[in-house]
Amino acid sequence: MTTRYITTPIYYLNGEPHLGHIYTTIAGDVLARYWRLAGARVKFLTGTDEHGQKVAQAADAAGETPKAYADRMAKLFLDVSQKINASYDVFLRTTEKRHHEAAQALWSKLEAAGQIYKSTYSGWYAVRDEAYYEESEIFEGKAPTGAPVEWVEEPSYFFRLSAWEKPLLEYYEANPQAILPIGRRNEVLSFIKGGLRDLSISRTKFSWGVAVPQDPQHVMYVWIDALTNYITALGYPNVEGEELQTFWPESLHLIGKDIIRFHAVYWPAFLLAAGLPPPKRIFAHGWWTHDGEKMSKSLGNVIDPFKLIDVYGLDPVRYFLVREIPFGQDGDYSEAAMLSRVNSDLANDLGNLVQRVLSFIYKNAEAQIPQPDELLGVDRDLLAKAGHLHDLLRDDMQAQALQAYCQHIWEVIGEANRYIDGQKPWSLKKSESPQDHLRMKTVLYVLAEVIRHVAIYTQPLMPDSASKILDQLGQTERTFVALTTPLKSGIPLTEPTPLFPRIERES
Ligand code: MSP
Repeated sequence: MTTRYITTPIYYLNGEPHLGHIYTTIAGDVLARYWRLAGARVKFLTGTDEHGQKVAQAADAAGETPKAYADRMAKLFLDVSQKINASYDVFLRTTEKRHHEAAQALWSKLEAAGQIYKSTYSGWYAVRDEAYYEESEIFEGKAPTGAPVEWVEEPSYFFRLSAWEKPLLEYYEANPQAILPIGRRNEVLSFIKGGLRDLSISRTKFSWGVAVPQDPQHVMYVWIDALTNYITALGYPNVEGEELQTFWPESLHLIGKDIIRFHAVYWPAFLLAAGLPPPKRIFAHGWWTHDGEKMSKSLGNVIDPFKLIDVYGLDPVRYFLVREIPFGQDGDYSEAAMLSRVNSDLANDLGNLVQRVLSFIYKNAEAQIPQPDELLGVDRDLLAKAGHLHDLLRDDMQAQALQAYCQHIWEVIGEANRYIDGQKPWSLKKSESPQDHLRMKTVLYVLAEVIRHVAIYTQPLMPDSASKILDQLGQTERTFVALTTPLKSGIPLTEPTPLFPRIERES
């Protein structure tokens, strides 16, 4: 049986959820839903990254204990995951006991393998990025990301990252698809080739974290703790357990491009050092801007997902984020772009197709899936295009080409709309000839069959809307297997209602 393990980053709790956060979770959800419909056994993981200096400082600023603050903020991330209809199997919080145990077990394993030593760290640290920086990377007192840095000098445990330079390069050489897109892979390879220094993996200046085993003066560096979440959720340290054995070899980490180094250098090195294989694939997506500007609290242009969904509806937001930019590239959110997708792709293309065809059948063909007569070349062509979706879409999903997934479906929607205009079922209806009436039924059958394909494949993108279309079509079988048998005639339709009303600009 095919298995898939799909993960999002776990989100820091120092601020409220925004568009960038829901983007990764929606992308993961589309993939998870697709693979379930394809018959795979799927585990989809998301959650919150609750420790570290950044969260501790945010709690302090809010006048709360880190734990009380984390509980309050984690609830917002849980709420937003539900608001976007994310079908996660596990929502993991790093403050959970099982996660502390897993992180400590990984640490002990690394220590036993001679991968950890104690020394002193003196160097730059950026709390905003929760990252260490080299002297050579600091410019005008800032990290390359623009984050302010502070000088840190403290006793620290180190991980022998330098020892993993060669094994990592060999691993990526042998697994050219392990980091996507390819530009990100090149970036990682040149970083590794530039030389890896041992990594400080504990802090002593604050205590909000997972205690280092046998030395509780130290808390683990938040990234070693955070990255472990991906195996905590599979029952680590039980490496022989069914979950780890089944899902880890099929792991796909979806992340933003800003956190590639942690995922593609540190994490695989920790895993190799602990005797576990690296993740199968790391896919780094791009960065969203708002009207061309970086979203930031100080600019006040951060997009609140709750408000966005209240204005446009959940499914249009999900569709927009996946369709608007190729997965892996940067993109821009603007109200104009959003409105254009809603009105053109959803209201005009998909909405009209479904509404025109289903209400026509409802009114003029006894409100049931018609019986087709002999199929003509045009009919077969259109049905073949819908049939080809199966392989095209599978390839798209194997490659995390989410935008292409939408485009392929919408090409068929476009063909179906042209087919209606060409076949003119309304003229056939008006004709006196019984032959024309039979032809009308054939045309409507072909269209209903194409709509069934479109709706079934649209479920991962817009679960609620696709489900309404399938309800209206009277379809109960909704996995991809259902498409291996032709649409049955005679199934009663329910009265269609418009799915995607056009939205006019407010101002
Ligand atoms: N806690 C770490 C991840 C640990 S994973 C073991 C973290 N958290 S984060 O909350 O700061 O960011 C989470 C994700 O949101 C990252 O993948 C980041 O790239 C993404 N985004 C944050 N802002 C974004 C945009 N404006 N656009 C797209 N994604 C962005 O990093």
